[in-house]
Amino acid sequence: MSALEQFRELMRRDRVFEFLVEDNEIIDVSHKVILYIEGLSVSFDGFKALNDLNLYVNDGELRCLIGANGAGKTTLMDVITGKTRPDSGKVFFGQRVDLLKRTEAEIAMLGIGRKFQKPTVFEFHSVFDNIELALKTSKDMLPTLFSRTTDAQMDRIDEVLKTIGLKEHRMQLAGALSHGQKQWLEIGMLLASGPRVMLVDEPVAGMTAQETERTAELLTALAGERTVIVVEHDMEFVRSIAKTVTVLHQGSVLAEGTMNEVQENAAVREVYLGEEQ
Ligand SMILES: Nc1ncnc2c1ncn2[C@@H]1O[C@H](COP(=O)(O)OP(=O)(O)O)[C@@H](O)[C@H]1O
Ligand SMILES: [Mg+2]
Repeated sequence: MSALEQFRELMRRDRVFEFLVEDNEIIDVSHKVILYIEGLSVSFDGFKALNDLNLYVNDGELRCLIGANGAGKTTLMDVITGKTRPDSGKVFFGQRVDLLKRTEAEIAMLGIGRKFQKPTVFEFHSVFDNIELALKTSKDMLPTLFSRTTDAQMDRIDEVLKTIGLKEHRMQLAGALSHGQKQWLEIGMLLASGPRVMLVDEPVAGMTAQETERTAELLTALAGERTVIVVEHDMEFVRSIAKTVTVLHQGSVLAEGTMNEVQENAAVREVYLGEEQ
């Protein structure tokens, strides 16, 4: 293992906490699945936003979630991150960690990070400062917030800047970045916290074609070492990144497969792509 690999290994939250947490909190992906969702239902005033939904995501996968407005995509992310409590169902992180028994803060600390649609970078701080702040305020780093940034943290910031393609912009004010660059910066801020699973909501909305292409490359590169779940409407984008696409409809999984399989699925064509049969 190289020093960098060793460092990466140490930065993984499940490893960082290994000596602190109870045995059942180590994320067990021995069966390859990192997220188990079964029979999940959520209702708002009797309306079923999620209806007996089943979803299994493998460790290291890049999964796209698509579906018309109101299909339940955001609600699903809200349940995974502990923001919304379901009426029934199971949500497990690896084999053993029951996410429904955890608070939103605990779930974040276990390594499930989320990027909302609208970028929320600190506009009056530099690109570097934004990443540094995200690194130092990530839950496992709280005590370091007011201390000197260590060499290891500097390396980590550099690595993140390189990954998101903003190394040349490190001293620039975040507010001066293009919309696309702000989205990358926010992905970088999420990355700095070392998540095991990244939930990304509509990353390419409002991006130029070139920015969209680079985002596809970025998210593809991020998967593998971590699991990335992307909600997106842009079909060309989904086609360019997705290995497996899950189509949600009325709170359930309507179809799952490669983009081609999903697009050829009669039920999908009827309800989502709006094509006549
Ligand atoms: N807090 C809430 N209160 C009432 N209804 C909600 C709430 N959140 C979502 N819904 C409803 O649940 C359905 C699914 O919403 P959502 O998960 O946001 O879908 P998507 O993200 O796929 O567009 C929609 O009909 C929406 O109006
Ligand atoms: Mg939504």
